[in-house]
Amino acid sequence: MNKLLLIDDEEDVRYSIQRIIDSPEIELVTASSGEEGLKLIPKIKPDLVLMDIRMGGISGMETLRRIRQLDVKLPVILMTGYSTTQMTIEAMKLGAYDYLLKPFDVPKFKEIIANALKAARDMRQVVSYQPLLESEDYELGIVGRSEAMQQVFKLIGQVAVSDATALVTGESGTGKELVARAIYHHSDRSQQPFLAVNCAAIPEQLLESELFGHERGAFTGATLQRIGKFEQCNKGTIFLDEIGDMTPATQTKILRVLQNGTFERVGGNQPIQVDVRVIAATNKPLEAAVAAKQFREDLFYRLNVVRIHIAPLRERREDIPLLVNYFLKKFAHEQQRPPKSVASNVIKLLEKYHWPGNVRELENAIRRAHVMAKSDAILQSDLPPEISGQGGSGAPPPSATIGARGDDAAALARQLFQWARRDPKLKIIPAVERELVIQALKETNNNQVHAAKLLGITRATLRKRIDKFGIQRELNVK
Ligand SMILES: Nc1ncnc2c1ncn2[C@@H]1O[C@H](COP(=O)(O)OP(=O)(O)OP(=O)(O)O)[C@@H](O)[C@H]1O
Ligand SMILES: [Mg+2]
Repeated sequence: MNKLLLIDDEEDVRYSIQRIIDSPEIELVTASSGEEGLKLIPKIKPDLVLMDIRMGGISGMETLRRIRQLDVKLPVILMTGYSTTQMTIEAMKLGAYDYLLKPFDVPKFKEIIANALKAARDMRQVVSYQPLLESEDYELGIVGRSEAMQQVFKLIGQVAVSDATALVTGESGTGKELVARAIYHHSDRSQQPFLAVNCAAIPEQLLESELFGHERGAFTGATLQRIGKFEQCNKGTIFLDEIGDMTPATQTKILRVLQNGTFERVGGNQPIQVDVRVIAATNKPLEAAVAAKQFREDLFYRLNVVRIHIAPLRERREDIPLLVNYFLKKFAHEQQRPPKSVASNVIKLLEKYHWPGNVRELENAIRRAHVMAKSDAILQSDLPPEISGQGGSGAPPPSATIGARGDDAAALARQLFQWARRDPKLKIIPAVERELVIQALKETNNNQVHAAKLLGITRATLRKRIDKFGIQRELNVK
């Protein structure tokens, strides 16, 4: 349950927002002035504040300043009309999370709320490494007893106490984001903000402005000045996820921030100084991108000061029983029920499977089994067929048909691409490759970012394949 504090002096606005939000996951508390809001915050401990910038009594600006003193990790979203946009921009420099222009665009409104709630969770839910699994209480954290994970824990501990840039690498679903958050929570900056930016999810031309902001008129559509994440996150930690997907211009700017802490907003010429710690992650082999001149070598070395590589799950199978146990506790905790148990033959099957989707896939399989299980024990028949059926030694089940079920196709596609990547001699038959690309696009409703991720290839490669195979016509892809 998320708690949202709405501060607005107009009853009509409070009422209409109440109606827009109306969600069982969000509890809304309202205040009619900045003073009242400030009194409520320590009492109700909201996860998010939504506030009008122009109010009677103390202004929205002053309220924001005091909220930041009370709790820098509390995201504040401002509601603003065009006449107050200049004020809003000043507020963003003070660390407001985002703003909403009146009248509200409801889908945008919901998106911003959801993003801010995720940011609040990232900052609050402490990720411990090596959580005590024996304790009765479920503790959120990174689980692993393998040599490889012990090494990861050691590195988290070392890098957390320094201010060095860290690069977290590993296949999709290995826990890179979790590691990034653990570093933040154990660093000297843990009492300052943490903002995550998924570089692959933001269109290329917008990423630079998202990170560094832009001046008014910097490009078509830039009707207002915008403050970027680096400026908003001053003194804090920024997590650049999927760093492999970046234009050369953005790479150059990141390099400069890392070197001397300065940048200019897009279309601006005044250098801005910030103090931000950067943690980056990627599931792509950056070395190869450097060799192919797609990624700046100097930036790579700058990011790679401390490298934390997370091994794929199939290379540390001894972590599987521990993870299963952890996820069972986690789901039991979420549902307020006693945890289910797992038959020992089921654990054996789980240990044998090749886990192309790594820990995320394991988590999903256990989640599904937890729902499927009719008794208080999880049985073989509760597992997805690719795990229970053939179990297998890492080869896809012979009868797997692409498109039979979303997960199967996705897992198979990833596995094939991973094989092909590891062994250049193994050429995927183009027809199969074409089928996989089509399948991935269908699965993701033609979302190229998601499809590329599913296939474990870059978006650029995906586009090349779409062209090569003439898939546009078939799927109406742009
Ligand atoms: N060692 C671990 N212990 C507990 N949970 C884990 C572990 N590793 C991963 N997870 C869980 O698996 C899921 C995927 O992890 P995460 O999002 O950090 O992966 P990722 O490497 O960032 O993946 P992607 O490259 O796809 O973004 C999350 O729900 C995370 O909590
Ligand atoms: Mg991730």
